[in-house]
Amino acid sequence: MTMSLNGKIVGKYHQAKNAGDAGELFYHAAFEPGGAFDPNEGWLSGRKTTDDNFTFYKQPDLDKTAARVPDGDFIVPNTHPKYYFSIDPHGRLGWESNQLHYNDTTATVVEVLTNQASNAYKAFLRQKQISYVIAGDKILDAPLAISKLTKAFNLHRIMLGGGGVLNWSFIKQGLCDEVSIVLIPGVDGDSQTPALFQPLPTDDPDKLVNFTLKSATPVGDTVWLRYSISNS
Ligand SMILES: NC(=O)c1ccc[n+]([C@@H]2O[C@H](COP(=O)([O-])OP(=O)(O)OC[C@H]3O[C@@H](n4cnc5c(N)ncnc54)[C@H](OP(=O)(O)O)[C@@H]3O)[C@@H](O)[C@H]2O)c1
Repeated sequence: MTMSLNGKIVGKYHQAKNAGDAGELFYHAAFEPGGAFDPNEGWLSGRKTTDDNFTFYKQPDLDKTAARVPDGDFIVPNTHPKYYFSIDPHGRLGWESNQLHYNDTTATVVEVLTNQASNAYKAFLRQKQISYVIAGDKILDAPLAISKLTKAFNLHRIMLGGGGVLNWSFIKQGLCDEVSIVLIPGVDGDSQTPALFQPLPTDDPDKLVNFTLKSATPVGDTVWLRYSISNS
């Protein structure tokens, strides 16, 4: 994740005068050989992150009269062996294709739904050949999601890719063992943007997560921070 000096992950701080090549450093850390997640087999993103960066709040073209789809998960075999796991509890994202491109990374889209997603949305995904797993009834069951994804796609680890709501929901449950942050020397005045870890009003305010510094690498005025997390 990139982060401002006041812990935000969205905003004008990216344009800070001394940000230098923070964007490239972020991409290296997350996606390139020698980065923090080499090899990056797949990454998870929250619904807002996907809408802001890939699906742009397009409404899915749903057929409300679609025949009832079979119960359970839908896995498309032999897809591109790098995955974008899209946490979309209600089934809202208007995908146009089952692949996405991010810089020079190509990834196969996989949706992670709950039982709140409609039959019409699941039929829409099937029609687009987009794999999905169902993890949770009303709210996301994050451990189940990880277990299903690692088994279905034969993964060794998954990168938690933000935004802040998704990050906190996994970290508070002890599902993350390392954090990698590109700290940008800038702050902006937006009061509405999410923090690196963004609890919801329903979250326990006393929950505490502990971090241990693994490395701090300055690159100009930007710092690449890596922490391990004590989940015990
Ligand atoms: N600086 C960086 O490196 C970086 C990296 C990634 C993203 N971002 C930015 O972060 C922003 C979005 O962050 P955000 O914190 O507002 O949103 P987010 O975490 O991307 O998405 C939140 C949404 O995801 C769904 N969701 C995720 N986890 C869930 C859980 N455990 N339980 C229930 N629902 C869950 C919900 O969707 P529904 O509302 O549909 O139920 C929720 O509203 C974007 O603008 C993105 O560009 C920045």
